[in-house]
Amino acid sequence: MELFNLAEYEAAARRILPQMAFDYIDGGADDEVTLRENRTAFARLRLRPRILAGVGTRNLRTTILGQPISFPVLVAPMAFHQLVCPDGELATARAAGAAGTIMCVSTAANYSLEDVAAAATGPLWFQLYCYKDRALTRHLVDRAQAAGYRALVLTADTPMVGRRERDIRNRFTLPPGTGWKNVEAYGKRDLPQDVEGSGLAAYVASQQDANLTWADVDWLGSISRLPVLVKGVLCAADARLAAEHGAAGVIVSNHGGRQLDTTLATIDALPEIAAAASGSNLTVLLDGGVRRGTDVLKALALGAQAVLLGRPVLWGLAVGGEAGARAVLEALRAEFDLALALAGARDLAGLPPALVVRP
Ligand code: GLV
Repeated sequence: MELFNLAEYEAAARRILPQMAFDYIDGGADDEVTLRENRTAFARLRLRPRILAGVGTRNLRTTILGQPISFPVLVAPMAFHQLVCPDGELATARAAGAAGTIMCVSTAANYSLEDVAAAATGPLWFQLYCYKDRALTRHLVDRAQAAGYRALVLTADTPMVGRRERDIRNRFTLPPGTGWKNVEAYGKRDLPQDVEGSGLAAYVASQQDANLTWADVDWLGSISRLPVLVKGVLCAADARLAAEHGAAGVIVSNHGGRQLDTTLATIDALPEIAAAASGSNLTVLLDGGVRRGTDVLKALALGAQAVLLGRPVLWGLAVGGEAGARAVLEALRAEFDLALALAGARDLAGLPPALVVRP
């Protein structure tokens, strides 16, 4: 069956994947208010296009932290790609490279960051979960730098895992033999198999540092040459702190509605953060609820330099491996290209905030 849009990839993935895997990927925290709100907030915004702008030739390219990419969509960090496809992150990295964009590889990848780098055909960033064991954490950073990763993304909204009731009900865990490959050598690969509830929540509670503060952003900046992005920023005050603590960028994110439920949608949080960042060198990116080319357009008009695409990439991977993930990225590229033309813009510089109206 031909799939025409990202929602159709979701429906196809739902038909293919075991319930535990599909629920883990698609689920959110508590009542999943934020999960839905990320979508409905995009849909609430209205566009005010310009006409007769001579849009026959368009340029979607941009540069993020010095890295040219073919269109302003990156692959978001997501755990455990082998839940949907045996080649897991290797296939995702090839798909991102073929699409001419950056993939952000998760600490919780099922392949080692070195194996992903060896398979990759495009630029990679490394998403860091900070372990209580700082020697281990530092080793991850050193390895990412040595393997050619271009930036570190510190996930800052997950001192503990949100209450994801689907995972609790399913007793979420991973098939034996798969796990946090990056920390296998430390004996920390496996999620517990026998907990009452989410194996991920139990793992994170036992391994990861819930005491992170802004001082840890300083620390991260001091132990590598890589630019640091802070992911999970939802207000201007935290964007300003990120800049003060040397971050090169922030990712406006509520972790896909998987952490604190009833937060603002990311597209609604974006304007104040973009305003706080204006006049500084802080790169502002956004994830959460991006499913249509018009969503990308709205995020850019409201001040994001690019967006990150999460769940839909995994749906594509589930449906068709590397080719499926690539097809999802290409579908979004085509939609964004058309939206740009219909809005009266030829490139990303021509996207003023006035393009978006809150009715
Ligand atoms: C991991 O970051 C998750 O959201 O499950």
